[in-house]
Amino acid sequence: MSAVRTEPTSPPRSGPPGLPRLLAGLDPSGAAMTLADHERAHGPLPRIGPRELIEAVERSGLRGRGGADFPTARKLRAVAGARRRGRVLVVNGSETEPASAKDRLLLSRLPHLVLDGAVLAAGAVGAHEVIVKVGESATTSVRALESAISVRHDDAVTIQLAEGPEGYVMGEESAVVHFLGGGAPVPTLVPPRPFERGYRGKPTLIQNPETLAQVALVARYGDRWYRELGTAADPGSALVTIAGAVAAPGVYELAFGTPMADLLAAAGGSTEPLQALLVGGYFGTWVDSSRAFRLRLAREDLRSVGCSLGSGVLIALGESSCGLHESARVIDYLASQSAGQCGPCVFGLRAIADAFGAIADGVAHDREYDRVLRWTSEVRGRGACHHPDGAARFVESALSVFGYQIDDHRRARCYAPGAGLPLASGAATAAAAARRTARGSAAARRAAR
Ligand SMILES: Cc1cc2nc3c(=O)[nH]c(=O)nc-3n(C[C@H](O)[C@H](O)[C@H](O)COP(=O)(O)O)c2cc1C
Ligand code: SF4
Repeated sequence: MSAVRTEPTSPPRSGPPGLPRLLAGLDPSGAAMTLADHERAHGPLPRIGPRELIEAVERSGLRGRGGADFPTARKLRAVAGARRRGRVLVVNGSETEPASAKDRLLLSRLPHLVLDGAVLAAGAVGAHEVIVKVGESATTSVRALESAISVRHDDAVTIQLAEGPEGYVMGEESAVVHFLGGGAPVPTLVPPRPFERGYRGKPTLIQNPETLAQVALVARYGDRWYRELGTAADPGSALVTIAGAVAAPGVYELAFGTPMADLLAAAGGSTEPLQALLVGGYFGTWVDSSRAFRLRLAREDLRSVGCSLGSGVLIALGESSCGLHESARVIDYLASQSAGQCGPCVFGLRAIADAFGAIADGVAHDREYDRVLRWTSEVRGRGACHHPDGAARFVESALSVFGYQIDDHRRARCYAPGAGLPLASGAATAAAAARRTARGSAAARRAAR
């Protein structure tokens, strides 16, 4: 077994200088990297003790890439120190944010990097079981993972693959754990949080695939190497899905601290003058372009305009599109994705979506603007999960950035072409999936090894 040992610790290899890091050696043909190619690019799984790994991750400053931006070392410590036995690691590959493509890219093209991170993190917290959870439409990821798992004979953990229904809130960690335990894919009341009592009541470390891929690099090359890129407060690199009015939409690896203009340049530049950027996906924030271009990909910059990188999505909205109508579509989608469990989320988001739709169509009463703002403040913090909070943030930023267009919409019909913000129209709603699960038709779940 070569996977995780307490001693000895192998000295860090020298890592790739500059970028790419995570995406180093990515096969342009679209094929998944084989284990042999992966080991040629990064070397074999390093031997590193649990304490050494957690300390290296702590010094690296790595934070979770699934949206909550939580310090990874703190989570590792919490699960490692849990009193209950039978710890589990879950790779949250749900990627329910419709515009995001980074997790599918990692799982389908670089599965061994993610699995290395999972095996190393499992060793660090004393877990012997790893479950990789993906959405049921992610067939390329499933194939790549099945094949990767089948050739990993030396891991000191069992690795299973689970496919689940897809809907916006089904990637939330308590929903993932509940579904894997045989329940409906809907968020549950916390506490207890998964790290205390998660999958089948066991302490569960749940991490995003990109976070684990970064752990695999820190374990190999060390925290000093990790900090060679980025800023002191935001070290390292990040995968960003850049979409909208850019010439080459896609997933790009960029160093923290990169100016926003350079991010767009990486995606081929904008295809028309931009009116705004949506930073952080549909739980994110619209920022008008004049302010956005003064920002860097850094937490302090993003916080100064009330946003965060979230799940690493950046959408450019061209001047020819209508921010109010695009936002109305997204809000309607978010309302449709409520898991149907908490009154303020179910009724509040629907009321907000309907009122916002009327505002965008220019048929809303004068009072509607204030009512929407009042309702967003009323739904915040009133759900079992953060769905209403994320949706409220999106709505407030949409009104703040595009609110000046409301009067024009009242005076004349808006003929702006749709910008095509992705909405995962095939996504199940959590409420429907819950009913399906209750009828005993739980989505396929299988052990890959
Ligand atoms: C509504 C909702 C949906 C979420 N969807 C995802 C998802 O698809 N993938 C993901 O990794 N995290 C998602 N998260 C965040 C997870 O709850 C959790 O914080 C994350 O998986 C932890 O991994 P990290 O610390 O590596 O980021 C979601 C959170 C919320 C509130
Ligand atoms: S807040 Fe909404 S999405 Fe979250 S659990 Fe409650 S009803 Fe479901």
